[in-house]
Amino acid sequence: MRKVVTKAIFPVAGLGTRFLPATKSVPKEIMTLVDRPLVQYAIDEARAAGIKEFIFVTSRGKGALEDYFDNAPQLEQELRKKGKDELLEVLKSTNMDSGEIAYMRQHKPLGLGHAVWCARRLIANEPFAVILPDDVIAAEKPCLQQMVEAFQETQSNIVAAMEVPDDQASAYGVLDVKEDMGSIVSTNGLVEKPKPGEAPSNLAVIGRYILTPSVLQKLNKKRSGAGGEIQLTDAIADVLRDGEDVYGYRFEGQRFDCGSKAGFLRATVAFALEREELRDDLWSYINDIVHADKAAQ
Ligand code: UTP
Repeated sequence: MRKVVTKAIFPVAGLGTRFLPATKSVPKEIMTLVDRPLVQYAIDEARAAGIKEFIFVTSRGKGALEDYFDNAPQLEQELRKKGKDELLEVLKSTNMDSGEIAYMRQHKPLGLGHAVWCARRLIANEPFAVILPDDVIAAEKPCLQQMVEAFQETQSNIVAAMEVPDDQASAYGVLDVKEDMGSIVSTNGLVEKPKPGEAPSNLAVIGRYILTPSVLQKLNKKRSGAGGEIQLTDAIADVLRDGEDVYGYRFEGQRFDCGSKAGFLRATVAFALEREELRDDLWSYINDIVHADKAAQ
């Protein structure tokens, strides 16, 4: 019988140190691109891909995340009273039904692999998706939906992949490509943060995965890898060694690394320019500063 992906894990327990001091009290995933927090983009993408159960792996200080998905009856009432129907709809679209969303706690930031392992009991014996909300992907067809469609064919592990310049490969998990079939590649292995010059390819893994439950069994070993953290890519490489297939998927779309300040700012500009009510004003501001810069040179 063909397997279907209905559960997604959202690991959001990291410290977000690159955004200190903001992340002292604001979870990185609640930070907004224009007016929607990063998690909202992740939830929307998952829903479009057919996900029905949303599992957040959180940590101390991430209470704002849980509040965000709650109903806000008082606010809804106020908007209704004032006839602000459009805003009311926007607000309602962020509510999650009871039982649709679950929160697990990662007590120590031991790494992405460990965060995923924390959700193991809610996954049981099914394939599942992992979405890192700080990787935001602008795409006509949402990235996870593209991957779910590929999974319907492969029925095996799939990781989102994109080409990166050689000098950036050591910041990522990198695929050792066996056969390149265009949007899909089969792999011989994965290397987390290879040393400069030792990357097996320039196809880097980014924050979308569809995985089989055997990856969770590999994470049971709690083996630390690059940076002393329990790495998800190491567990995926382990299942590959055991004979399971792992595919890289070259998604269509533009990925923004919103875990970094520069990536976050780029995404902010790109998403703002997509909004009709902001576009003209922002363009004219960008033009002004570009001209002023040129004139000063
Ligand atoms: P990052 O590598 O971006 O780490 O984690 P971070 O802690 O969020 O941010 P910096 O590097 O300190 O600025 C990638 C993803 O894995 C999650 C993060 O929340 C993020 O979604 N993660 C990482 C965990 O859930 N737990 C961990 O122990 C580590």
